[in-house]
Amino acid sequence: MSAIRIEALTGARLKAHLPDVARLRIEVFRAFPYLYDGDLDYEARYIQAFAASANALVVGAFDGDEIVGASTAAPLATQMDEVTAPFRSRSEDLSRWFYFGESVLRERYRGHGVGARFFEEREAHALRSGAAEVAFCAVARAGDHPLRPQDYQPLDGFWRKRGYAPVPGLTCSIAWKEIGAREETAKPMQFWTKRLSRS
Ligand SMILES: CC(C)(COP(=O)(O)OP(=O)(O)OC[C@H]1O[C@@H](n2cnc3c(N)ncnc32)[C@H](O)[C@@H]1OP(=O)(O)O)[C@@H](O)C(=O)NCCC(=O)NCCS
Repeated sequence: MSAIRIEALTGARLKAHLPDVARLRIEVFRAFPYLYDGDLDYEARYIQAFAASANALVVGAFDGDEIVGASTAAPLATQMDEVTAPFRSRSEDLSRWFYFGESVLRERYRGHGVGARFFEEREAHALRSGAAEVAFCAVARAGDHPLRPQDYQPLDGFWRKRGYAPVPGLTCSIAWKEIGAREETAKPMQFWTKRLSRS
């Protein structure tokens, strides 16, 4: 594998790569556990809106000129109600929190530290933006889900290694259309969090 370059995408560079990031999300989230039947127009609008929120970050991973991975972060307060409601109901001060949207990396580039770099870049950005804590959410699937590949490896170990832990009871639901479904259905999501340290 050739060297992968990690770049924070802003302004014109971000605009130029938005369609590629949208395509990448559809490609990667088609697999278990997301099983997402994505729509390119919707995805392009979603990622554009995400990137437009104040203090948002989109990190790209490049093989030459081609974007092969992307990762997003933004202040929690800028996110949709489904995501912020569980924090509001616990009377959390949203201004202390950053939210990590997703990390997607084309399969053949995995296992070489790009995912770890995505976390480093986003945590550094969250700290610079004044956040003290980070949250992301992951879909909760049954262990015996019929579409779970035999060799599927959950990312729990990867996240724990970066200092994140699931918070019991801190959950939400997010709707999307699964492969083979006619309509969107709500999926249970588990939040993982970490307190950032300024060392
Ligand atoms: C998440 C993702 C970006 C990780 O990227 P990656 O570049 O393969 O991860 P890294 O190579 O940085 O892995 C870092 C470490 O975690 C370990 N690791 C990676 N996947 C792991 C897993 N499933 N379980 C346990 N450890 C894991 C690696 O062995 C490596 O360990 P090391 O530091 O001791 O060498 C990639 O797996 C992906 O795109 N997955 C599909 C989309 C997805 O589910 N995203 C997350 C939710 S949005």
